[in-house]
Amino acid sequence: MTDYTTLVRQAESLVSGVPHLTANLANISALLYTSLENINWAGFYLSEGEKLILGPFQGNPACVEIPYGKGVCGTAAAADSVQLVPDVHAFPGHIACDSASRSEIVIPIHKNDKIIGVLDIDSPVLSRFSEEDRDGLEQLVKALEQQLF
Ligand code: SME
Repeated sequence: MTDYTTLVRQAESLVSGVPHLTANLANISALLYTSLENINWAGFYLSEGEKLILGPFQGNPACVEIPYGKGVCGTAAAADSVQLVPDVHAFPGHIACDSASRSEIVIPIHKNDKIIGVLDIDSPVLSRFSEEDRDGLEQLVKALEQQLF
């Protein structure tokens, strides 16, 4: 089980006082990639109009543009809701960037109540993400919303 209280504190201290968005998102990706067990991709897509554009991440190279409404990330952005996908093969329209991915969680990021991007984490293990992961990652994104954007 991940200790999300510690992880959120580590994330906050990594970005604290650092006025560089790309550097902060890169460090958060690295923190998540090295702290969470059984994951193969962790990173950010940032909104440009009605598209998500690949941001800082750790893992294999990934698709650069995802229109709102497409794939797990685009669904999270269009619906403004967390997508916890136990089996990506059962998700209609899932975009397979890494064929090893089996489950995925995507959390929308907001500024002034508007979606400005998503946090995306992939796992090679089916049903990797629990409700505890969802709650913990939502807290992490809230902390980032307050400190970064
Ligand atoms: N699987 C995502 C695409 C991004 S990669 O997982 C990094 C999706 O369906 O939106």
